[in-house]
Amino acid sequence: MPTYILGIESSCDDTSASVLCDGKVLSNLVANQEIHKSYGGVVPELASRAHQQNIIPVVNQAISKANIDKNQLNAIAYTRGPGLLGSLLVGSSFSKSLSIGLDIPLIEVNHMQAHLLAHFIDDCGPTKPTFPFIGVTISGGHTQIVIVKDYFDIELIGETLDDAIGETFDKCGNMMGLSYPAGAIIDKNSKLGDPLKYKFTKPKVGGLNYSFSGLKTGFLRFIEKETKLNQDFVQLEINNLCASLQYTIIEILYEKVILSLKQTNISNVVFGGGVSCNSGIITKFKENESLEKYLSYFPKLEYTTDNAAMIAMVGYLKFNNKDFSSIEKGAKARYQY
Ligand code: KG4
Ligand code: ZN
Repeated sequence: MPTYILGIESSCDDTSASVLCDGKVLSNLVANQEIHKSYGGVVPELASRAHQQNIIPVVNQAISKANIDKNQLNAIAYTRGPGLLGSLLVGSSFSKSLSIGLDIPLIEVNHMQAHLLAHFIDDCGPTKPTFPFIGVTISGGHTQIVIVKDYFDIELIGETLDDAIGETFDKCGNMMGLSYPAGAIIDKNSKLGDPLKYKFTKPKVGGLNYSFSGLKTGFLRFIEKETKLNQDFVQLEINNLCASLQYTIIEILYEKVILSLKQTNISNVVFGGGVSCNSGIITKFKENESLEKYLSYFPKLEYTTDNAAMIAMVGYLKFNNKDFSSIEKGAKARYQY
């Protein structure tokens, strides 16, 4: 008998629903919320209201695109956290109600774990990462390094002490007048610029932790100083600014990931999260594989940003372990492994 899992993701500003059959994606729909663009970042209350509008149509479309009837579903997997509480509440309440209505099990999923386990979705190619691996989750809200010994044996060994890496791309992009979210625009502009033209300070944080707030402030001060001398500075130098900023962010990321591989004696590194589609990051880690003796894995583009297929994938793995959740468990804005 095939196992059909419905995944529901609503941790930030994307409402997503997906149906998986035995780990194979039948549908994966994402409703983006354009409304945040004009505010330069996600506005939690608006995100929560948009989830309420989107969730029923998105779930209906995911089920009909999968060409199944809702009564064929075996379980519902939903994002319990981490994320924005108001957003999480929409997905979790909806999932709980639907599981009661259909009388099928409910499965809670940790969003960060799902970003990494997305690599095990059937259509992500034949070469799956082998355990143990170093997991690196880089997104708008998180920057973490973990040891993944098995699907559900994950240990946090490093994280940002302030801003997340995607937040750094977005906020520095905002300083240059780029629209939100700026990560992909900076990536694109970087290809036309000189990464060594401007030097920005790198943080001095011990161990495997990160800090990006100093870089962000230094970038702002530099732009303010140069704009006083020439008000068209940013416009004239946009590609070099983007390339130099991206170069610095990648250097900071790379250094700690290599340190984590050396400290743990692990030779596989698996990336997840919206920033993991950055072309500079992929090139840097791929280029240095034989020099530093590791293998790096990057997700398919559609599974880098927030999506419900990754939630349904973790749901499928948990379903096989009969690891079900009770409806009493509440959404968690902060949710560690
Ligand atoms: O995982 P995600 O969709 O949502 C969060 O959980 O945060 O990640 C969104 C982040 C944004 O900060 C966006 O600017 C960044 O991913 N991003 C990129 C690129 N594409 C998206 N950052 C750098 N380079 C990219 N190509
Ligand atoms: Zn995410």
